[in-house]
Formats: sequence, C-alpha cells, structure tokens
Amino acid sequence: MNPTQLDQPYRLSQAVMDKVDKEAAKYPSRRAAVKSALRYCQEEVGWVSNGVVTAVATHLGLEPIEVYEVATFYDMFYTEPGGRHRIRVCTNVSCMLRGAETIVSHLREQLGIKVGETSPDGRVTLLEAECLGACGGAPMLVCGNQYFENLTTDKLDSLLDQLD
Ligand code: FES
Repeated sequence: MNPTQLDQPYRLSQAVMDKVDKEAAKYPSRRAAVKSALRYCQEEVGWVSNGVVTAVATHLGLEPIEVYEVATFYDMFYTEPGGRHRIRVCTNVSCMLRGAETIVSHLREQLGIKVGETSPDGRVTLLEAECLGACGGAPMLVCGNQYFENLTTDKLDSLLDQLD
C-alpha cells in the first residue's frame, strides 16, 4: 500500500452505511458484514485504503486489524490504488493448460505494461489471479464484476476497445 494514501481518512457514504447495516442485520454478529462492507466501499472508491479499513471497522464496532485481515486475505479486494478497470487473468492450471500465458502476453503487449502495473493513461491495471471458478470456460479473466471466458486474442481486443 502507498502510505500517503493509506492514511487518508474516509467516511462511509450514507448509501454504503445503509447497505452495510441491512447486511449486518441478517447475522448474529456485525463481523459477518465485513466482506460486504469492503465490497460496497470498493465499488464506491475503487480500492480499499487504510481509511476505508478504519471506517468499516468503526462502523461495525470492530478493531481495524480485524477488517484489515479480511481485506488482505481475499484477492478480490484491492489494497492498492489502480486503474479505472482491473483485468484479472486466471493463470491457474485449467487456464494455464488452455493458453493463459498467451492471454497475459497479449494484454501486456496491447497495454504496454507488465502484470501488476497500470497503463499510463490510468485505464487498466493488469493482474493475474488464482482459479476463479470458471475452469470450464478456460482461459478466462474477470474485469469488474464480469467474467470473460474461452478467450482469444480477438476477444481481448474487443474487450479492450470497450473499456473507457
Ligand atoms: Fe482458471 Fe479455474 S483454472 S478458472
């Protein structure tokens, strides 16, 4: 994490607080709403900063470390700022056997970046991911909340064209 951005205070929006409270009400412990809270914040802010972690902890009555542990355990939470879109290419076994390496290198070439980097225009951050549970559609990637399966370089070019 970038320390300068980590320490920015963050206030949960009323919309996020309402959704978190609704989620928390389903469970005996407010702790059960941590993942949902982080997801709502990430949808709003784009990533999970220390400010987000602290705000979620405060709202749920937890210690920040309890929220931080969840945020850093799941790779769907981004603890670094990134581009407007994050492309996560699965490179686990099924996808690897069906050409994930070609998919990653095509994206690297088209975007002019390495895995883990963000394109200079701030449009795309390229990431690799472990199995995303869509092995039947290998090779695949996730961009935002959408899965793209049975990828080819043509499909990748079409996806990149759609991203603002
Ligand atoms: Fe890629 Fe399972 S190995 S989705």
